[in-house]
Amino acid sequence: MRITLSVLKADIGSVGGHTLPSPAVLAAVKEVVEEAKGSLLLDAYVFHIGDDIVLLLSHTRGVAHPAIHELAWKAFREGTEVAKREGLYGAGQDLLKDAFTGNLHGLGPQVAEMEFAERPSEPFMVLAADKTEPGAFNLPLYLAFADPMYSSGLLLSPELRPGFRFRIMDLAQTERDSYIELDAPERLYDIAALLRDSHRFAIASIWSRKYGEVAAVVSTTRLRNIAGRYVGKDDPVALVRTQKIFPATEEFGPPFALAPFVAGDTRGSHHLPLMPVKANTPASTFFCVPMVCALGFSLKEGRLTGPVDLFADPVWDAVRAKVVEKAQEMRRQGFYGPAMLPMEELEYTGIAERLKELEREFS
Ligand code: 13P
Ligand code: 13P
Ligand code: MG
Ligand code: MG
Ligand code: MG
Ligand code: MG
Repeated sequence: MRITLSVLKADIGSVGGHTLPSPAVLAAVKEVVEEAKGSLLLDAYVFHIGDDIVLLLSHTRGVAHPAIHELAWKAFREGTEVAKREGLYGAGQDLLKDAFTGNLHGLGPQVAEMEFAERPSEPFMVLAADKTEPGAFNLPLYLAFADPMYSSGLLLSPELRPGFRFRIMDLAQTERDSYIELDAPERLYDIAALLRDSHRFAIASIWSRKYGEVAAVVSTTRLRNIAGRYVGKDDPVALVRTQKIFPATEEFGPPFALAPFVAGDTRGSHHLPLMPVKANTPASTFFCVPMVCALGFSLKEGRLTGPVDLFADPVWDAVRAKVVEKAQEMRRQGFYGPAMLPMEELEYTGIAERLKELEREFS
């Protein structure tokens, strides 16, 4: 049976700052989604990460289907109406256009979708991040799909041994989508050369070379490319199939435990570590530390069982304690050096205009 999984995410308003959606907003979004179960949808699950609401939808319509995208748009619009009534902060923040035009791409919400022939057992994960950029998934996914130091399946399983194909997007291209496809392990150094620059290049998808099957998809929407100004962080989502011909679920844990420094944090303008948290965690008032959650599901004929919260067990409390230290150390140096993003990334905020004015005072 061919199944499509669609993950669609938007920030449509939050309580007391960029923290979390209100219960009423979540309820309004869920109501629209629930109504479509059994007709348009085979199944669905709604949750939030920080101030972003995530819809996981399973169906048979294929990727980028107008009816699926319209459903998500409707859910986010109705949620926005509630957010406005409640006076939530940034009501409708990620809905950058007024009218739905057949596809959510270019309208603001993050979108990650994949279609595949369902395996007899189809384990997968949804990764959702807040206060960060699409490139935030670069290092963890690279390590899980291409580095045997982290992904022992690359050595132990003949299914994984031929490696994976990485489709990488150049986010600096604003006119059209621009991709490169590189095969690991042969092109490992080229993949690393691109992925190291997480502000410019982001993994868009990963494919099994042995089977040609899609393994992972990541949303790559850059809000500033749509809006031309700073409108919050992109806060990416990803779908990752696991087990058998893909890395095992537990092979994704250690790369996320690394908590690499990524762009995000206060005003989306700093570098802080990507903290693994439980789903439905509010954004942290500690400078809005970037965070990621991972929910594991099983799928049968499009029906979901789960989720299991993959960053909930006690190991992750110890990881989080270390990540907090790392974050505090960086933030102690305030605006200085690598703590704040480089100028190219800040040019969509007010500091660019101020520096232009200062130029005139130079002699
Ligand atoms: P179980 O025996 O618990 O299924 O372990 C499977 C495994 O190999 C985990 O990496
Ligand atoms: P969001 O994209 O999560 O709304 O981030 C806003 C922000 O800049 C917090 O400082
Ligand atoms: Mg927000
Ligand atoms: Mg957010
Ligand atoms: Mg955002
Ligand atoms: Mg077992």
